Amino acid sequence: MDELRDKIFELKAKRNAVLLAHNYQREEVQAIADFTGDSLELSRRAATMDCDVIVFCGVNFMAESASILSPDKTVLLPATEANCPMADMVTVDTPRELRMNFPGYNEVTYEFPEDFTLRDMKRRYPGVPVVSYVNTTAAVKAESDYCCTSSNAVKLVNAIDSDRVICVPDRNLAAWIAANTKKEIITWDGFCHVHDRVRPSDVDAARAEHQGALFVAHPECRLEICQMADHVTSTSGMLRFCRESDAREFIIGTETGLLYRLRLENPHKKFHPLRSDMVCPNMKRTTLRTILFALENNTKVIKVPEEIRVPAKRALDRMLEIG
Ligand code: 13P
Ligand code: SF4
Repeated sequence: MDELRDKIFELKAKRNAVLLAHNYQREEVQAIADFTGDSLELSRRAATMDCDVIVFCGVNFMAESASILSPDKTVLLPATEANCPMADMVTVDTPRELRMNFPGYNEVTYEFPEDFTLRDMKRRYPGVPVVSYVNTTAAVKAESDYCCTSSNAVKLVNAIDSDRVICVPDRNLAAWIAANTKKEIITWDGFCHVHDRVRPSDVDAARAEHQGALFVAHPECRLEICQMADHVTSTSGMLRFCRESDAREFIIGTETGLLYRLRLENPHKKFHPLRSDMVCPNMKRTTLRTILFALENNTKVIKVPEEIRVPAKRALDRMLEIG
């Protein structure tokens, strides 16, 4: 492990590279990252990093956002197969997969009732602005008016000059926005399989086991779960909330990778996963070995074509201005 780390540091220096890691990454990856954060923080960093190479330890759409915001830099995605299944639930104009399974995740299969594209949605609601969650492909962002992340979604929707807004692809985030705005939210039926499977009985069981602990939920959980929480926020919002709270014990309703930093930054507090199987297999594909291999061999370079990058950047820039 030490040897791998040393080689990564050596190559990073040689290539003037920085390592950005999402809060769900493996512990050993977060430990060597130059910056760890939620989707909004990582987008901001990607736009302002002074480097030649960005090694993006996360999933495909995040590396695409880095490439959209920093087109002159080489963006590497070390885990070549790291996709976000939720991002793939909305397509621009080709029919989406109607049957999805989530390999490595108890072989869950989901069948969508109809194939429906973003352009179909826009035709159905002409003139209604589209807000795409940052968990979308670059092509979907290019077809959207705004992007949002879990930490700025409500604020962003409230700032839009329209009474109706289309939100894609997460039906749970959309439900959370709808519960916190006066605007009409037109919802897509995508979801994150890691968060969507949580049920009220999981919260009841965790609260019974850890009495007095505060429960924090990610807005990718179902609305009924968010309504049971003491606080609902993004991953970095959870880090802030737990740091600033006087409470000593917390139940964490998101991917378990966040526990690493929570425990590191708050050694005197206790953190419990809401469910120990809230693990995103795609986020765990990045390892020290794949990082080293990417730096040595330039796999996999993420480059968004200009005709998609320019309109996608407009949607991301609007988010960064408002957020
Ligand atoms: P945030 O880190 O922005 O809360 O996003 C969570 C997520 O699911 C990223 O894939
Ligand atoms: Fe996608 Fe969910 Fe994994 Fe995030 S945790 S990358 S939303 S599948």
